[in-house]
Amino acid sequence: MIKGDNILSEGTSSKKTVFVLNGPNLNLLGMREPEIYGSDTLDDIAGRLEDQAHDLNLEVDIRQSNHEGHLVDWLQEAAADNAQAVILNAGALTHTSIALHDVIKAIDVPVIEVHLSNPAAREEFRHKSLIAPVAKGTICGFGALGYQLALDAISKF
Ligand code: DQA
Repeated sequence: MIKGDNILSEGTSSKKTVFVLNGPNLNLLGMREPEIYGSDTLDDIAGRLEDQAHDLNLEVDIRQSNHEGHLVDWLQEAAADNAQAVILNAGALTHTSIALHDVIKAIDVPVIEVHLSNPAAREEFRHKSLIAPVAKGTICGFGALGYQLALDAISKF
């Protein structure tokens, strides 16, 4: 299940939570340029992550917003909740957002940057990531599988 803007996690279990935050236009996955981003919807990805998290004894809290400030709030919330890690696909904000760079730097939670496509192999304006220098690591170019690779890595921290 994907949560939308302003919906907070209930946090009743003792399992550590991994926030999976998705930025602008990722709600359109499945119909958005499938030759680049694949045919899986964000719901498909969420379902697989929930199954994987269950097997890894983790919780995932999966959200999407088209608004930069919501992503900033959610990263701060991940820190306040002592989350295990954040998987972040910031979409186009990857290339522009000093606010996301700053909040990732400010919090103590490891952030894994994920992209479905390989931005380095695309237009020049996608070559620079403001997230990469403050992320624990980056996974890109493996389509939807990148989210699962990130969760697997987090389970081994
Ligand atoms: C993306 C890559 C970004 O450059 C783009 O703006 C997106 C998706 C990816 O997952 O490949 O929205 O983050």
